[in-house]
Amino acid sequence: MTAPDDTLLLIEDLTVSYGAVEAVRGIDLTVRRGEIVTLLGANGAGKSSTLNAIVGLAPRKARRMEFSGSDLQGVPPETVVRRGLTLVPEGRRVFSSLTVDENLMLGGAKHATRGDPAAVKADMLERFPILAERLHQNAGSLSGGEQQMLAIARALMSSPDLLLLDEPSLGLAPQVVDQIFDLIGSLRERGLTILLVEQNVAQSLEIADRGYVLANGRIELQGSAEELRASPEIQDAYLGA
Ligand SMILES: Nc1ncnc2c1ncn2[C@@H]1O[C@H](COP(=O)(O)OP(=O)(O)O)[C@@H](O)[C@H]1O
Ligand SMILES: [Mg+2]
Repeated sequence: MTAPDDTLLLIEDLTVSYGAVEAVRGIDLTVRRGEIVTLLGANGAGKSSTLNAIVGLAPRKARRMEFSGSDLQGVPPETVVRRGLTLVPEGRRVFSSLTVDENLMLGGAKHATRGDPAAVKADMLERFPILAERLHQNAGSLSGGEQQMLAIARALMSSPDLLLLDEPSLGLAPQVVDQIFDLIGSLRERGLTILLVEQNVAQSLEIADRGYVLANGRIELQGSAEELRASPEIQDAYLGA
């Protein structure tokens, strides 16, 4: 199989095993430049394992795993970031006892090869005024939504081409969830490509171009967002029709 030119992420036959536990069982997945692709599925389906495996944070085996045409297999996480692929992990994981500023600089400083950290930070503070206001506060004092903004802003400090988001709306109040989805849409408008893991199926399919549904480590369903929204499986299992 040859990848079309606009394929940014190409995965064939990816397996993730933790000892005897096979969390992901031979999945194929592609993300094209400029797309928002959503990876849906219940708790324990293997969504985080997939994202973690892509960036080198989970044990993985694949027939092909390529980003921007270069092989990702055996590439350590910090190199993956330098190549332009950054993960915002599940549960936000900002450094609570560090300030907003310090958190941002940690995202940029380590990966300074992709642009000037000060310039990227200035851009980030313009884009996230709430973080500019709270720049010298400890990250732990921010609300859940603000911490998620910070986690995303920190990831953007490495100027990625592809952003992997692991359940960014988890545990947030509905209007904050709306803000996060608005933000994701605006990031795409600025040219970012996004692979979005969510349990919030309705909102994800509103914003995504395509999607995959994972169940027990396998791709159960895939298609355009429109096709998925209309599918009886999705309607029954996730949209409460
Ligand atoms: N570090 C780990 N060690 C052992 N099992 C794990 C580990 N991480 C995840 N799993 C298992 O792998 C499966 C998929 O988990 P995960 O990828 O976190 O699913 P999801 O993100 O879709 O909720 C689950 O059965 C989970 O218990
Ligand atoms: Mg998960």
